[in-house]
Amino acid sequence: MEVLIFPNAQSLASKSADLVESQINAFPDSVIGLATGSTPLGLYQELIRRHLEHELSFKQVKTFNLDEYVGIPGDHPQSYRTFMDENLFDQIDIEKSNTKVPDGMAENPLDVGPAYEKLIEKAGGIDLQVLGVGTDGHIGFNEPTSSLGSITRVKTLTQQTIEDNSRFFKPDEFQPKLAITMGIKTILDARRILLLAHGENKAQAVCDMVEGPLSAFCPASALQLHQRTTVLIDEDAASKLRLKGYYKFVGEMQDDLVKKHKPSDWIAR
Ligand code: F6R
Repeated sequence: MEVLIFPNAQSLASKSADLVESQINAFPDSVIGLATGSTPLGLYQELIRRHLEHELSFKQVKTFNLDEYVGIPGDHPQSYRTFMDENLFDQIDIEKSNTKVPDGMAENPLDVGPAYEKLIEKAGGIDLQVLGVGTDGHIGFNEPTSSLGSITRVKTLTQQTIEDNSRFFKPDEFQPKLAITMGIKTILDARRILLLAHGENKAQAVCDMVEGPLSAFCPASALQLHQRTTVLIDEDAASKLRLKGYYKFVGEMQDDLVKKHKPSDWIAR
């Protein structure tokens, strides 16, 4: 796991956008896995800016979102489809038909997972997966004790996640307790992973993910098994890491290596 520590959320967003942009420049038809939530907003804003100012094009890009709530339609203000349309897709040149989000209103939600897996496979697999992490260590909606071998399926949200996300729902509004989410295996199958986290409230989850034991109790710790995961965090999210100084030292050594030699094989495919 490569751990990059940034002074603030803006520099983190800018670096993550550099990485996504290099992926798209190398493979304009890249398949990119996306997350919702507050964490990737800076990245999405930066990608939109680069699209408008530097003509970064998403014309051939295909995207798969990690998850969607069960029981609210795609046009509901709190659906993840609406989130993606408003915060990214409607502001770039991506073909809407190339953007997939699990269908939270399917007649049988249990059928959605296997069909979603097939769609990902048909697209050639995910080249680059963007992730956030929940305060309880979840990735996608793979809550603590999710199988490390899980694929896309229906999951029940924990009380912690329901509380964390209640800020987006009006007090008397229906708030879903179920979601359809890519599984941990689905995520680990991505060729490259970028996990973003900022803020002190993520410090414990980041510490458990990077330095804790590999455990289904912290689903994000499964990323320790992935060969090409880059964790991009700010100083607050890094505040509980025991080897913080070491990760910074590794970053300097890496920069040095890249200056002297050919850039690393960052691009996935
Ligand atoms: C959302 C998702 C979740 C979030 C996580 C962090 O698609 O997959 O795992 O990444 O809940 O949420 P924020 O970024 O709002 O703190």
